Amino acid sequence: MNNVILKCVKIQKNFTSNGQNIQVLRGISIDVSQNEIVSIVGVSGVGKSTLLYILAGLDHPTDGDVLLEGKSLLGYNPKHLARIRNHDFGFVFQTFNLIPELDVLHNVMLPSLIAGVDSKDALERAKLVIERVHLEHRIHHDTTVLSGGEKQRVAMARALVNKPKIVFCDEPTGNLDEKISEDIFQLISELNRQDGTTFLVVTHDVNLAKKAHRIIRMVDGRIDQRDVLGQPSSIGRALHS
Ligand SMILES: Nc1ncnc2c1ncn2[C@@H]1O[C@H](COP(=O)(O)OP(=O)(O)OP(=O)(O)O)[C@@H](O)[C@H]1O
Ligand SMILES: [Mg+2]
Repeated sequence: MNNVILKCVKIQKNFTSNGQNIQVLRGISIDVSQNEIVSIVGVSGVGKSTLLYILAGLDHPTDGDVLLEGKSLLGYNPKHLARIRNHDFGFVFQTFNLIPELDVLHNVMLPSLIAGVDSKDALERAKLVIERVHLEHRIHHDTTVLSGGEKQRVAMARALVNKPKIVFCDEPTGNLDEKISEDIFQLISELNRQDGTTFLVVTHDVNLAKKAHRIIRMVDGRIDQRDVLGQPSSIGRALHS
């Protein structure tokens, strides 16, 4: 596969719960290409979120490695890893994780301020990215009064504000109705086409998953080999042609 941006090799993850060892990920290897949209599907509890957190450097595997542009994330100290998460990665959570005390604009500005961008530039960046997610009319709204779809757009804008190379989305449409879910996936496709951002999207919704360039199906802590070899779905091809 050309231009591999993110690679994981034989990822294993065990948790200990009540003295019991649970093997959640049992050797997962994936190559993600630059500019790709990859969906990750599988039944509840199979380890989708666990995998996404490990790929995004938010958790450590028990064994195996994660490489961003050929360099292991596991080799970085916590400060350097935090910098990579802030600059190179965006993360969209199912439950939005917006800061209720801040309006739309300030939620979106926050990652730039953390990155050390001065407040005037952070403001400009945030305004531009809020336009990209079509929320300019809500810029000074309290995030608590927004609809689910609007909140997810704010979360997407916040994930995008530092121009990440990869955006990880964990059930970005999990709390949204069908029409809004379609809109969020359209937005992902648009951002991927226009900016070349790579997306990894965990979803329960197989119809939405088919809109990605590639679907990875997790079964029993492993990847279903039939999908690893699979080609983009016809819907995916239509969307991205
Ligand atoms: N910190 C933890 N300690 C113990 N067990 C955990 C921990 N985190 C996750 N697990 C277990 O790992 C398994 C996979 O969890 P994970 O959240 O990755 O599943 P998922 O595929 O994302 O499920 P869902 O579709 O419901 O979100 C589950 O059985 C869960 O109980
Ligand atoms: Mg999950």
